[in-house]
Amino acid sequence: MTPSAPAAPVLVTGATGRIGGAVAALLASAGVRVRALTRRADAPAVPANVEVATGDLTEPESLDAALDGVGAVFLVWTAPPTTVPAVVDRLAAHARRVVFLSSPHRTPHPFFQQPNPVATLHADIERYLAAAGPETTIIRPGMLASNALFWWADAIRTRGVVRWPYGAAETAPVDDRDVAAVAARTLVEDGHAGGDYVLTGPEVLSQVEQVGVIADALGRRVDFRELSPDEFRHETEGSWPRPVVEMLLAAWGATIGQPAYVTPTVADVLGAPPRTFRQWAADHTAEFEG
Ligand SMILES: NC(=O)c1ccc[n+]([C@@H]2O[C@H](COP(=O)([O-])OP(=O)(O)OC[C@H]3O[C@@H](n4cnc5c(N)ncnc54)[C@H](OP(=O)(O)O)[C@@H]3O)[C@@H](O)[C@H]2O)c1
Repeated sequence: MTPSAPAAPVLVTGATGRIGGAVAALLASAGVRVRALTRRADAPAVPANVEVATGDLTEPESLDAALDGVGAVFLVWTAPPTTVPAVVDRLAAHARRVVFLSSPHRTPHPFFQQPNPVATLHADIERYLAAAGPETTIIRPGMLASNALFWWADAIRTRGVVRWPYGAAETAPVDDRDVAAVAARTLVEDGHAGGDYVLTGPEVLSQVEQVGVIADALGRRVDFRELSPDEFRHETEGSWPRPVVEMLLAAWGATIGQPAYVTPTVADVLGAPPRTFRQWAADHTAEFEG
């Protein structure tokens, strides 16, 4: 990364999470001053060389110290929506540039067009950002490759069989590291104001094929047992939020028979090809072996 060296710190929200954590680490390793926002005073997984600021997106006034003197903000919103307008106003009052981690809810592909409360929240945040007026770049990853860890690692580790619905549903998983690299680039490089970047991986893979790629990386057999949607609802009862289950079932169901949506945007922004799912799996075997 060759930043146009902002002297003011970049505030990274979600810095203890998947994408924000990687963004903070990338920026810090490139010599950018990073301030990491967390609600927790003991701030667990914040990378070295990163200043920590406590604050809560649901309490806008708690962000003032974290926003003091910042030039850019990476915005990740997994909190309830109520305080979005007040927080966006505060961001715009302090920062010249905001890069927002959204989703491809505007993309005309059935996978991205199912009823989804998170998409509604993302659209609202984008609208408030446009009205508040900072330089804004919207980052829209499709399916994150690391979802495979949350979904399948335990089953692969303990049983060697993935019980899952819609095995034929195709996605183009994007490596979290590529999403973070695009975000980090747009936070420090000029020329991305108004950028609207839908990020996917380079290849189309059904869910059965994704499990097969993980099995190849592990060098052992992993079976895929197709579940009906109702069996999946039953198996996730009590452990997954029902709206998330319904959102995923609708998205996978709608994509059957449709090739997954693939964009060249990671390569366009980074000047290097996106990582493949095979590469992601090879780099995460330890988490599947446990
Ligand atoms: N999974 C996918 O395939 C996918 C695809 C496209 C887009 N996305 C979007 O990616 C976003 C999630 O990113 P992620 O997976 O990197 O997040 P994550 O790992 O779930 O981490 C959530 C982060 O948000 C912070 N946070 C939560 N509530 C907060 C609050 N009230 N105030 C301040 N910080 C708060 C947490 O920090 P502390 O706990 O330290 O405070 C944590 O760092 C979501 O908007 C999701 O819709 C996901």
